[in-house]
Amino acid sequence: MQPSLQDLEILSELRAQLHLHNYRYYALDDPLIEDAEYDRLFRQLQDLEARFPAWITPDSPTQRVGQAPVAAFVRVPHEQPMFSLDNVFDVAKLEEFDQRLRTTLLLSEEVDYIAEPKMDGLAVALLYRNGELVRGATRGDGVEGEDVTANIRTVRSVPLRLLGTEVPELLEVRGEICMGIAGFRALNRQAEESGLRVFANPRNAAAGSLKQLDPRVTASRPLLFFCYGVVGRLEGVERHGQMLRQLSRWGMPVVPGWQEVRGVRGCLAYYRQLAEQRQTAEVEMDGVVYKVDSLELQRRLGFVARAPRWAVAHKFPALEAKTVVEAIDIQVGRTGVLTPVARLKPVNVAGVVVTNATLHNFQELARKDVRVGDMVVVRRAGDVIPEVVRVDVSQRPLGAELFPLPSRCPVCQGGVFQEEGEVAWRCRAGLACDAQRKEAIIHFASRSAMNIEGLGGQTVDLLWREGMVTDVVDLYFLADKRAQLVVLEGLGEKSVDNLLVAIQKSRQMDLGRFLFALGIRDVGEVTARYLANHFGNLQAILEADQETLQGTPEVGNKVAKRLFDFFSEPHNRQVMDRFLTVPDTSWTQVVEINRDRRILAGATVVVTGTLNSLTRQEAKARLEGLGARVSGSVSKRTRFVVVGDKPGAKLTQALALGVDVWDEETFLKFLQEGDG
Ligand code: IVH
Repeated sequence: MQPSLQDLEILSELRAQLHLHNYRYYALDDPLIEDAEYDRLFRQLQDLEARFPAWITPDSPTQRVGQAPVAAFVRVPHEQPMFSLDNVFDVAKLEEFDQRLRTTLLLSEEVDYIAEPKMDGLAVALLYRNGELVRGATRGDGVEGEDVTANIRTVRSVPLRLLGTEVPELLEVRGEICMGIAGFRALNRQAEESGLRVFANPRNAAAGSLKQLDPRVTASRPLLFFCYGVVGRLEGVERHGQMLRQLSRWGMPVVPGWQEVRGVRGCLAYYRQLAEQRQTAEVEMDGVVYKVDSLELQRRLGFVARAPRWAVAHKFPALEAKTVVEAIDIQVGRTGVLTPVARLKPVNVAGVVVTNATLHNFQELARKDVRVGDMVVVRRAGDVIPEVVRVDVSQRPLGAELFPLPSRCPVCQGGVFQEEGEVAWRCRAGLACDAQRKEAIIHFASRSAMNIEGLGGQTVDLLWREGMVTDVVDLYFLADKRAQLVVLEGLGEKSVDNLLVAIQKSRQMDLGRFLFALGIRDVGEVTARYLANHFGNLQAILEADQETLQGTPEVGNKVAKRLFDFFSEPHNRQVMDRFLTVPDTSWTQVVEINRDRRILAGATVVVTGTLNSLTRQEAKARLEGLGARVSGSVSKRTRFVVVGDKPGAKLTQALALGVDVWDEETFLKFLQEGDG
């Protein structure tokens, strides 16, 4: 069947829209529409293409995956070699670089540079013909790479088509394929669980993922793309920064946070700022690249050997270091999971002294065969606990023994078990195990749970050691022990009073958060909220049998059993009964499931602008407490938009879509009624 003219128009409009939304979502992380709306457009395109398969174009957003596996990659020569960069590791060498360049150019004034993060991944070259992605190649040896087009196409932030109409006939974009730290960890966790090989770092994971013969495997990996340049010159573009801006306009994801800087001083200020950000960044960066901004000056400087004279990489200290394992301890987590931890001879890793590193689980420990006394490589990634990457077996001391699998919980001496399909070993004792009870208190008080300010791990440790709390519910009886608390070392009147106020305040936390705070296995924030909305108060949940619990939306067989087991365990039951005696709590109030809960259950709400009486985070928590889903973007299905001062484009979108707009006052009134 032939498509009508109108069908063709819709096809091309859908593709154009999806290209744009793809860019907003994957490259800018700033979507204009909700996921569901995106999915709807995507399905609409798929349906249309299914009716007219002859009209499917390779640059269609539906065509990211689908090419068949290959036996080997074809080697392709690079039109222009892919250069590498010279490195500097200190200020003196950077000054030399700058001086050399100014001498060559006979410049007395300071040089304008563009400073960019040096992304830690693997270099690729993407070729666009008339705006359409036609080839993606790895760097290879710089002269010849491998054709990985089918794999590159699966990377969501790589545009299959450039945005806009003014695109060059031929454009070669160069950049870096990376894997984010969270994605890397998740991938390794999966690999661990299936007993597969894990990757040593995000860069290896990115390389391993891109060089898959089956594009479907690549498609399943969380790869990112960041571009930093083009081959040749763009029309009318005279500066590197200008070129990056043009690439952005075409929908290319450009290296994040690049800046125009002046002279060595500007370079160093940027370096310090990025070195700081690196500690918490989502993607690994191994340094800063400084590039002469003027393309004319770049041309005059040219290349030496395999690197440009107009750019240099200023490397960050390595995230890996070698040290000795002094002991291997086993930690017991909130849900009883036993985690082996290496106690290390303190070592400085990129400015942070590392004394502990996780070994993840016993399967990993056995695979890496880490033994007490071993010399190991430890690695820090982002904001998370360092890990042991590998052992230097050549330095293993004589008589170092294999670390055995524990047969008992190191804390309570209870039995251990492994659940089917899980790698983890767990302590059987549940909340009868001291370690699990203490961890449960830390979780209960944490920000995403009851948000009791001032009750972090250290304070819980102290209260625990002093026997002031042995169960979560004890927190609500601490006020009677004020006199004993104020004399504890490290506390004092003021912090005790603040703590007691914070605990007091938490009694108003809604039922959903309370249930989540209990830390029942497989009961996350969302499930907890559903339970709260369904039952309305704690008593009703405690009275429910397994079948009744299973009647809650989103609660299946397994979770219902977990809940039932948790609440029927005698120790937990006692704790729950004591919770019911705490006065003035929102979780025990026997309220009718009120009108507003019904209005908001499952509804999507958007907040924009600054609210005066509560923070965005608080507003979100309150709305979620009432069962709403708080979204970052407005669509037709948004129930209402709460608008504060200086609202963004979301207000305009809401008005355009005819979505209800509430000012702060209306919203507050609604919340008050909702609470009552
Ligand atoms: S410019 C001729 N900029 O670092 C200029 N490279 O040794 C060549 N890299 O493998 C590269 N981030 O893929 C440049 N912002 C950035 C970069 C970057 C990462 C990689 C590049 C190459 C290596 C250079």
